[in-house]
Amino acid sequence: MGQILITTLVITLISAVLAIILTIADRIMNDYGEVTITINDEKNLNVDGGSSLLSSLTSQKIFIPSACGGKGSCGYCKVKVLDGAGPVLATEKPWLSEEELANNTRLSCQIKVKQDLKIEIPEELFNVKEFETTLVEKEMVTDRIAKIRLELPEGEKVSFKPGQFMQIKTKPYKGGKDYEGSDESVIRAYSIASSIKDKNHLEFLIGYTKGICTTYIHKVLEVGDKVEVTGPYGDFYYKDDDSDEILLIAAGTGFAPIRSILYHMRDNDIQKPARFYFGAKTPDDLFLVDEMKMFEEELNDYKFMPTLSRADDYPDWAGDRGRVNKSIDKYVKEDVKYSAYLCGSPRMIEGIVKDLKDRAVGEDKIFFDEF
Ligand code: FES
Repeated sequence: MGQILITTLVITLISAVLAIILTIADRIMNDYGEVTITINDEKNLNVDGGSSLLSSLTSQKIFIPSACGGKGSCGYCKVKVLDGAGPVLATEKPWLSEEELANNTRLSCQIKVKQDLKIEIPEELFNVKEFETTLVEKEMVTDRIAKIRLELPEGEKVSFKPGQFMQIKTKPYKGGKDYEGSDESVIRAYSIASSIKDKNHLEFLIGYTKGICTTYIHKVLEVGDKVEVTGPYGDFYYKDDDSDEILLIAAGTGFAPIRSILYHMRDNDIQKPARFYFGAKTPDDLFLVDEMKMFEEELNDYKFMPTLSRADDYPDWAGDRGRVNKSIDKYVKEDVKYSAYLCGSPRMIEGIVKDLKDRAVGEDKIFFDEF
């Protein structure tokens, strides 16, 4: 008995000593001291080495897009690293195209800052800010899509372009009677649905998918709760160009950035004809229809053109029937100079881009945001 006790004590002691040695070794080996990150050849940041490039930049209030919290599973956090990053890791390769590999694009969450780095980021990212907003309105616009309105703290303003997105950060939450809780805090990207003129509020249209963030927004968040958001991000936004007409094409919550673009057109008296082709399954999937009518009255030449893929079950439906592609085939003419803004699933976008190209819409005039 005494022998067993002594052996157990010795093993415990050896384990404890080994753990201490490993901790000290880890500290010594991972102590990279202070390193300098040079951004766009003009800004130097001094940070403690040892963290990921993404976290090091976040600690300096430079917010690179990230929808997976640095797990290497969203591919959002790309930056160009010109020096100091070492070879591309296996975890990065699935997210980088041949062109990106050739021009030194990397996933910032996968790069450990061990020495001085030189990076390049788009200038717009210097404008990205973090806001602690308050949920002031939450309304179900269909049985699965919620419209939420967030208010910025007094005195703070957000500037964005119509079509851009923000990131919403969840807090851990307990489960309820019809949903599971989450110990994790996650970050997800959502297009801004509101007008750029209102710099004190942000609106979003969020579909329920049972994911951590959509459950948080649909089931947990209540009016008055604080919500952390970061942004704006994205190169999908309305551009003033030489096109004669504007095509707006979306399905589901792809409605959100289009709504922001419509507000922009109204607020800036943009006179170009515009058509919004919106794909839904049934009349119950249509929402904010009154608002679309308001735009028809207030814009110079605008029409909301919903099409139902299950219209056969609704013989009284007077609008278009079938998928959005059918509307494109029907209405888009080859002799008009269009610019087109598309938001929806990758599959839908792929099909519509092809249809638009077949109708002679220039590739440089087709802008899309995949959900
Ligand atoms: S943050 Fe998602 S891949 Fe880097």
